[in-house]
Amino acid sequence: MNDEVVPLLRCPACTGSLDLSDPRRAADGDIIAGALHCVCGAVYPIRDGIADFLGPPRPPTLAQLTNELPATAWAYERLWRPFALTLLSGESFPYQRELALVTEWVGAAQGGLFVDVACSNGLYARALARAIRHAPGQVIGIDHALPMVQEARQRARAAEVRVSYMRASAQTLPIASGAASGVTIGGSLNEIGDLDACLREVRRILADDGRFVTMTLLTAPSAVGRAVQRAVSAGGIAFWSREELLQRFRAAELHPQRYEQHGIVLFTLARPDRA
Ligand SMILES: C[S@@+](CC[C@H](N)C(=O)[O-])C[C@H]1O[C@@H](n2cnc3c(N)ncnc32)[C@H](O)[C@@H]1O
Ligand SMILES: [Zn+2]
Repeated sequence: MNDEVVPLLRCPACTGSLDLSDPRRAADGDIIAGALHCVCGAVYPIRDGIADFLGPPRPPTLAQLTNELPATAWAYERLWRPFALTLLSGESFPYQRELALVTEWVGAAQGGLFVDVACSNGLYARALARAIRHAPGQVIGIDHALPMVQEARQRARAAEVRVSYMRASAQTLPIASGAASGVTIGGSLNEIGDLDACLREVRRILADDGRFVTMTLLTAPSAVGRAVQRAVSAGGIAFWSREELLQRFRAAELHPQRYEQHGIVLFTLARPDRA
């Protein structure tokens, strides 16, 4: 975790600012251990470079439980993610195309604070960190599954990019209001749980001129596709039509400005300001 992100963090219990105590640092200055204290009495440990705002795991759905397994975290970017968009969109969709779209739409090259919410192994977070290299800025990656952020941190270090990883809920983000220039959520709204609470949190942490970029799976057009989606929805995965999803964004004052649909894959750019 980088020192520069500490002033941008807030207690998820009371929104108070946090003080860093007993920091231990790696040779490159990264905070690898310590604690974040709030005046309300809450203490959030930093272990192995990851700030933990959640305590023991309490995954409410089967899909979320699966992400708590170290095997899922290990397999995610090795066995599934490189092929996911090509399979789901029905057209050739390599990382290069997806990451160029996401980093451009979110305006990463301009710098600022970028938060990748429900980041899993940190694919978007690493792309954001590469994109802001020449501008002043920070990238935070957040997921509620510890094995996912542990794997994400290892991957960021191997790629030599700076990302501060945290374990926190998408519905109570440990970030100051209005602090983020951009928020990304790649493929995770479908399993996030309370969608509206998550969207309200994204709106809260975004600056008024901030950008929110998502990649989300829509309801399948075919009867077979919808039957498969009905089966997985029992495990806690939800799908929406494009209009329904965009309406939920608007209800959270995140106004859709741009979208691109490829098969059931929808990329959106939404902004607090209507302009
Ligand atoms: C489909 S994966 C994310 C993929 C990743 N963004 C990418 O583009 O490779 C879903 C992730 O969302 C996380 N997640 C689900 N619900 C969450 C919540 N309410 N808060 C935080 N993380 C959540 C899971 O732990 C899992 O790692
Ligand atoms: Zn507090």
